[in-house]
Amino acid sequence: MARSSNAYLCQSCGAVHPKWAGRCESCGEWNTIALEETENGPPGSLANASTKSKAIPITFTTLEGGRDDTLRLSTGNAEFDRACGGGLVPSSALLIGGDPGVGKSTLLLQVTAGLAAQGASVAYISGEEAPAQIRLRAQRLGVENAHVQLAAATSLRDILSTLKTETPQVVVIDSIQTLWSDALPAAPGSVTQVRACAQELVRFAKSSGAIVILVGHVTKDGQIAGPRVVEHMVDAVLYFESEQGRSFRILRAVKNRFGAAHEIGVFDMTGEGLREVINPSELFLSEGGEPVSGAAVFAGIEGTRPVLVEIQALVSPSTLAAPRRAVVGWDTARLSMLLAVLDARCGLDFGRHDVFLNVAGGMRISEPAADLAAAAALCSSLFDAPAPRDWVVFGEVALSGTVRPVNQTDARLKEARKLGFAGALTPKGVTDPALELFEASTLTDLVAWTRARKSTTPKP
Ligand code: TYD
Ligand code: MG
Repeated sequence: MARSSNAYLCQSCGAVHPKWAGRCESCGEWNTIALEETENGPPGSLANASTKSKAIPITFTTLEGGRDDTLRLSTGNAEFDRACGGGLVPSSALLIGGDPGVGKSTLLLQVTAGLAAQGASVAYISGEEAPAQIRLRAQRLGVENAHVQLAAATSLRDILSTLKTETPQVVVIDSIQTLWSDALPAAPGSVTQVRACAQELVRFAKSSGAIVILVGHVTKDGQIAGPRVVEHMVDAVLYFESEQGRSFRILRAVKNRFGAAHEIGVFDMTGEGLREVINPSELFLSEGGEPVSGAAVFAGIEGTRPVLVEIQALVSPSTLAAPRRAVVGWDTARLSMLLAVLDARCGLDFGRHDVFLNVAGGMRISEPAADLAAAAALCSSLFDAPAPRDWVVFGEVALSGTVRPVNQTDARLKEARKLGFAGALTPKGVTDPALELFEASTLTDLVAWTRARKSTTPKP
C-alpha cells in the first residue's frame, strides 16, 4: 500500500536529506533544503519497486544508420538555428533558461511561428499566460496567421495524453516550473515536480520523435531553477541573456549533444519582437571617429563564429593606498594576473594607478586569447598612446610574459578583413597577405609597439 512520507530535498541539486539543515552537504548551497512530501519513500528510492515483475531483454543495435544533418529541422531563424548547432534534431529535448522578461516566450513564439510557416506541426503550451495574451503578443509580432496550436495547460497527464494523439513535430512548454503531475503530492515548481515532469517529457521526445522545447526559469544567481538533473536529462541547454539596459539578447548554448557548446545567437529586442543580428561585431565595436587611447579591438571567437569586440581601459593615477581595479565583461583575476605580468616582465608601474577595464557593448569574454588585447588597451591608456582603430589584437599571455598562439587564427583574421580592418597585432608565426601584421612574441614587444605609436601620433 502506498505510504506517505516526508523527505528534505535540496532545491538546487536534488539531494535527499533525512532532516532539515541550513546548508546542503552535497552541493554546498545555503537555504536550499525544503520539506517535500513524497509517496513510497524518498524520491528515487527503489522502496516500492516491484521485485516480482519480469525483466524484458533489451535489444542491441549498431552505430550505423545515424541521422545526418539533412534531417535537422530548420526553424527559419538563422540565429536560433546557429545556437542549436544548425537546427533542431528530431527526438531531442531542449531547455531554454533566462531571467523573467528577457524574451523567452517572445523568442519561442517567433520560432514556432517560423516552423509553422514552413509546414511543420507545432504546439505551444503555456502554463503562464492565457491564450488571449499569447494572441495579443502574436499580433504584435505579426505572426497571428501562423498555424501554431495554442493551449494553456499545466497538468502533465493532460498534456501527455493530448500530445500522444496529436503528435506535433515540435512542442514548446512554457514553462517547466508551472507543470505538475498528479502522481506526486509535491507542489508545482518543486524539485520533485520539475524533475518528474521533465523526465516524462524527455521520455516522450525520445519515444515519439517529437522535439520538446522546455522553458526554465532561473534563480537569482542565474541557474535554471530546479534540480541540476534536468540539465543532464535534456540534449541541449541554452541560456537567453541580456545586459541590463540594453536591447540586444544573446542565446548561448552551454550544453549541446548535437552541436558545439558556447555557440551564440544574437538578437535585438525591438517593438516588433526579436530581430536577428547577423553581424554581431557591429554591435560590439564602438562608433568610428578619432582614435583614442585605451582601446583595442579583440578578434574573438564565440562558439564557431568570430566576433570583434572593443576592449576599453582607463589607467589613471591613484591617491588610494590600494588602487581601484574594476572590470566589466572580463575576469577580475585575469586582469590582476595581466597587471602583475606587465609589472614584473615589462617594469610598468600599475601599482599606483586605478585600473578600469570594460568590454564594449555589454559583451562578456572568457577566452584567454583576449589577454593581448586587454594588455594593448592597458598600455595604450598608460602611455596615452592611441592604438590604430583599424587593427585587431589577439593572443594569450603566459606568466613569463610570452605571447602564445591561439586557436582559429584564420577565422579571426578573416573576420577582421571582412570588416575592413587594416592590421593585426598577433602572436608570433601568423601570416596574412592582406593585413599589415605586427607579431608580438612577448609583452615587451607590445610595450615597444605602443610606445612607438605615441611618438608618431601628435598630441592635441
Ligand atoms: P517575454 O517573452 O514575455 O519574456 P519571458 O518569457 O522571458 O519572461 O518578454 C517580455 C519582455 O519583452 C517585455 O518586457 C516586453 C518586451 N517585448 C518587446 O520589447 N517587444 C516585443 O515585441 C515583445 C513581444 C516584448
Ligand atoms: Mg514567458
